[in-house]
Amino acid sequence: MGLSDNPYVTAENGHGDLGNIAGGLAIITGGASGIGFALAEASIRRGLHPVLVDIQDDNLTAATGKLEAAANEAGVSVFGWKTDVSSLDSVEALKGAIRERYPNTPVSLLACNAGVGSGGGVLTGSNRDWEFCFAVNVMGVIHCIRTFVPDMLEQGAPGSVTATASQDGLCAGQNVYGVTKQACIALMEGLHQELQGRLTSHVLCPQVTATNIVGSERYRPERFGGPSQLSPAYQTFMDRFKSEGVPPSEVADNVFNAMQTGTFYIMSEAEQDPGYIRLQVETRMNSILNGERPFRPRSPWHTEIFSPRR
Ligand SMILES: NC(=O)c1ccc[n+]([C@@H]2O[C@H](COP(=O)([O-])OP(=O)(O)OC[C@H]3O[C@@H](n4cnc5c(N)ncnc54)[C@H](O)[C@@H]3O)[C@@H](O)[C@H]2O)c1
Repeated sequence: MGLSDNPYVTAENGHGDLGNIAGGLAIITGGASGIGFALAEASIRRGLHPVLVDIQDDNLTAATGKLEAAANEAGVSVFGWKTDVSSLDSVEALKGAIRERYPNTPVSLLACNAGVGSGGGVLTGSNRDWEFCFAVNVMGVIHCIRTFVPDMLEQGAPGSVTATASQDGLCAGQNVYGVTKQACIALMEGLHQELQGRLTSHVLCPQVTATNIVGSERYRPERFGGPSQLSPAYQTFMDRFKSEGVPPSEVADNVFNAMQTGTFYIMSEAEQDPGYIRLQVETRMNSILNGERPFRPRSPWHTEIFSPRR
């Protein structure tokens, strides 16, 4: 089906009216915390049934509980399912569970959002660090897309696919995490072209957001080396993220706005740091086009948050 034949999606990659997707499922990986949880709250406000998918069981139970009242009021249901997106078997089990629970409900939103903020540098990261970060931040997205998108194309109802990358995927590549986020953007660009407008697709590139992302080592699976406690310095760093970062609810609203208007690259900027994501993109592209060496510019806000000052 070409763009012009598609009854649901405009060539601009947006739904126009999000009422078109109300009543469907919003499958949200990493849904128990941070941006994923905010996406679940925003889904309820748009009449979608959130399916929270997360590796952290306790957080999942707490998160689904927190959403119950709003869901009841909106006339939608909440479903949570423990899944490790880095395991294809686990994602396929998720699909089975969703089919059993919602045999006839279309998937209106697949939000491949789960991610880990681990890794270290290109040289300082261990092989396990590389494997862990790629398994969740890249293979996790691929597993979900390959498991759910073929059915979304067949369901005869409109839908959207998003993945959460980062501003780190847009600037000159740096460290293990950044490389995974560059890969995430590239895979969404590839998917977008293959979809040819049959579903809308978007890639979220947030700045520092007030979440638990800095604490991912606390639940690293055993096969990637197992969990470890955060050092006091890292705990301070996480607290700083949570007090100074962009509220996750703003980031989630940016995603739904993009689904409406058709924005592919969702540059979710901090109001304290206007223009910084754009500057990173321009700097990278100028380096490529002008034969210069790669360089990531800093902003005062970004430098302050990442400095080991406190
Ligand atoms: N917070 C930021 O500053 C920021 C900036 C740019 C991008 N991001 C990206 O946003 C996404 C969401 O993270 P967040 O900031 O909300 O952090 P978060 O830690 O609060 O939430 C991430 C969630 O993903 C879950 N998760 C991790 N590994 C998983 C796995 N293997 N299977 C299933 N679930 C898993 C975690 O349990 C957690 O609940 C991530 O992809 C992250 O890389 C975050």
